[in-house]
Amino acid sequence: MSIKLVTAVVACFLVHIAAASDDVGFIYQGFKSSNLSLDGFATITNNGLLRLTNITKVITGHAFYPNPINFKSTPNGSAYSFTTQFVFAIVPQTSGLSGHGMAFVIAPTRGLPGGLPAQFLGLFNGSTNGNETNHIFAVELDTIQTHEYGDINDNHVGIDINSLNSTVSQPAGYRANNKNSFDNLTLNSAKPMQLWVEYDGVDKRIDVTLAPIAAAKPNAPLLSLSYDLSPILQKTMYVGFSAATGSVVLTAHFILGWSFKMNGAAQALDLSRLPKLPRFGPKKVSNFFTVGLPVICVSLPLIVAFAVAYHLRRKWKFAEVLEEWELAYGPHRFKYKDLYIATKGFREKELLGAGGFGTVYKGVLPTNKMEIAVKKVSHQSRQGMREFIAEIISIGRLRHRNLVPLLGYCRRKGELLLVYEFMLNGSLDRFLYNQPKSTLNWSQRLRVIKGVASGLFYLHEEWEQVVIHRDVKASNILLDSDLNGRLGDFGLARLYDHGTLPHTTHVVGTIGYLAPEHSRTGKATTSTDVYAFGAFLLEVACGRRPIDPQAPDESLILVDWVFSCWQGGDILQAVDQNLGTEYVIEEAELVLKLGLFCSHSEPNVRPSMRQVLLYLEGSVALPELSSLSISAVGLGFTLCGGFGDVALSLSLSDKGCSHSIAESHLSGGR
Ligand SMILES: Nc1ncnc2c1ncn2[C@@H]1O[C@H](COP(=O)(O)OP(=O)(O)OP(=O)(O)O)[C@@H](O)[C@H]1O
Ligand SMILES: *[C@@H]1O[C@H](CO)[C@@H](O)[C@H](O)[C@H]1NC(C)=O
Ligand SMILES: *[C@@H]1O[C@H](CO)[C@@H](O)[C@H](O)[C@H]1NC(C)=O
Ligand SMILES: *[C@@H]1O[C@H](CO)[C@@H](O)[C@H](O)[C@H]1NC(C)=O
Ligand SMILES: *[C@@H]1O[C@H](CO)[C@@H](O)[C@H](O)[C@H]1NC(C)=O
Ligand SMILES: *[C@@H]1O[C@H](CO)[C@@H](O)[C@H](O)[C@H]1NC(C)=O
Ligand SMILES: *[C@@H]1O[C@H](CO)[C@@H](O)[C@H](O)[C@H]1NC(C)=O
Ligand SMILES: *[C@@H]1O[C@H](CO)[C@@H](O)[C@H](O)[C@H]1NC(C)=O
Repeated sequence: MSIKLVTAVVACFLVHIAAASDDVGFIYQGFKSSNLSLDGFATITNNGLLRLTNITKVITGHAFYPNPINFKSTPNGSAYSFTTQFVFAIVPQTSGLSGHGMAFVIAPTRGLPGGLPAQFLGLFNGSTNGNETNHIFAVELDTIQTHEYGDINDNHVGIDINSLNSTVSQPAGYRANNKNSFDNLTLNSAKPMQLWVEYDGVDKRIDVTLAPIAAAKPNAPLLSLSYDLSPILQKTMYVGFSAATGSVVLTAHFILGWSFKMNGAAQALDLSRLPKLPRFGPKKVSNFFTVGLPVICVSLPLIVAFAVAYHLRRKWKFAEVLEEWELAYGPHRFKYKDLYIATKGFREKELLGAGGFGTVYKGVLPTNKMEIAVKKVSHQSRQGMREFIAEIISIGRLRHRNLVPLLGYCRRKGELLLVYEFMLNGSLDRFLYNQPKSTLNWSQRLRVIKGVASGLFYLHEEWEQVVIHRDVKASNILLDSDLNGRLGDFGLARLYDHGTLPHTTHVVGTIGYLAPEHSRTGKATTSTDVYAFGAFLLEVACGRRPIDPQAPDESLILVDWVFSCWQGGDILQAVDQNLGTEYVIEEAELVLKLGLFCSHSEPNVRPSMRQVLLYLEGSVALPELSSLSISAVGLGFTLCGGFGDVALSLSLSDKGCSHSIAESHLSGGR
């Protein structure tokens, strides 16, 4: 009896030893000469900071502990306890504005190959997000509210299990041990902060605790979640960090120190030994005040100096670039100050959206209270600007009820602002896909189609010179207060073609709307516009994007799918489900067939916009599709026509794949 007991105790002891000898633990007080596995834009700075991203647009950075770590004794066993502590800092380029955040992550691989930037935080992409096969545990420090993932605000900490939809999240903050109140913390304040993540493998509980750098570890965690990580964590996993930037506000993400321990308490970081963050922003002027001169002597010149500084700052703030040749454009030139006031200082709240070419803000002109939309396009070189502005202005003279009126422009250093009339109902794509709040009925859709067709016909044939739009697509069709479809954004693509913007002497347009010969030759013609118009027709009739990464394989490419429906004898199967049976069969058939016709891979077979109008009006019958010798191959998209990063661009945009590919390279070489 007593012998049995002894053996049991010994066995138990041995198991414990075995587990303990395996237990990984490490501490980095700064990362100088560390051996982390880095990818993306992650790097170790000269003074030993781990910088996951710098202020570069749409990038990711990952840093992982190089060796695999055992989280279980057997693949189906239960996950061990672990703890980690790290100090991080999120530094936005413009203080007060939010870029995207970062995350502590435990993953089955060293690095996250499919992780995309922006709201994906470098963790997932549109197809992996939420999938159980990910086996990813992360604690996100999220500084942007993405409604798609049910984010609570733009400054929160969340526990993410296989998904960016956090299992639980809280606004960032902490409860100091000697106080009873909860203090908010701003994650992207550029200040270093500490975070602890602790998993108790017996109680199956995850605790996450945040604190400013100066505070002791709070007793009360910010997040506490009862959750068994055993199904999530595999036997061996990698631990590390992921961060990402977007395209609007850029942020740099730093880790100053990190410690980790399996089955035990992570060694506490010695905060005094961590590397220092670089200085951000201008130096303080407070030294002025410590000068021992009598206050009166000093304050007078100071007041003058401040007045001058204030004046100079104002002047600088509203500075524009105005060259002599521009004087000729008189009324089309807006004052930057007026646009600044109109958009309330380009507040994030006034942001209407962001596209491939820039960001769009809503505004009200101070002079006449007119509602406007201001598109901010950044440009580096002056080369070609003169021709471009001349063209913009001449295009500005285009007047048609199906075009968005361009009111004028303004130019600053590195920035061009285009002023358009504000369109009350926003862009058409919002009415078509992603479970739209309100959709359009068939007659409204047909009216938009006819309107856009006549707008495009005007550009092609009715004006004094041929204007090629180059970027026809649902997100560039805006709806005015009467739900008239109006073409916007014309001319902008031209700016890229002129090479005014850097690295963009190549194809401009949007994947899914780019005619095959366009991506081959790089030359835009009226037929390439017709091709894009065809994609647009299908889009409106089917309520789907031309390329829908979410769709099953056979209907991934809309035109191919509609074509196969037609081949199968039931083209109406493709009509938008949201319409139910509330549509006119003949009209829907006409629109779908015309969409296929315009999408013909052979440019000379495509109809002209004049013909398109005749078909739409019903005054000329559409030729039989079969007589056009369309074959599935003939219709096929040339998606693989040399676009190296098409997949990335496709899933980058917040709305799906609607953004212009402003930088597509034909042969991948630069
Ligand atoms: N004149 C306008 N009136 C009202 N809203 C506008 C106007 N112009 C643009 N917007 C809004 O701003 C958003 C962004 O426009 P923008 O044209 O930059 O992007 P996009 O069309 O989605 O992409 P791309 O730049 O690739 O064409 C649009 O989706 C639209 O909702
Ligand atoms: C960001 O880092 C990359 C590579 O580390 C570098 O090429 C780039 O110039 C950096 N950008 C800025 C804005 O610091
Ligand atoms: C760094 O990590 C790699 C991968 O685990 C390992 O092969 C290498 O020996 C390590 N080097 C040092 C100096 O620790
Ligand atoms: C582990 O679990 C899986 C699925 O539950 C099961 O198919 C497998 O047989 C188990 N393996 C062991 C070694 O228990
Ligand atoms: C998403 O990530 C997975 C896994 O890393 C990868 O296989 C896939 O190609 C990615 N998909 C896209 C659309 O980037
Ligand atoms: C999850 O990913 C696996 C493997 O990549 C895939 O087979 C499966 O269809 C995905 N599940 C969902 C719901 O997307
Ligand atoms: C994430 O949350 C949003 C909003 O709560 C929901 O619409 C969406 O379906 C969720 N996605 C996943 C992958 O769980
Ligand atoms: C802290 O943040 C919360 C949520 O963002 C807010 O409701 C609250 O007013 C803030 N408290 C203080 C003291 O600023």
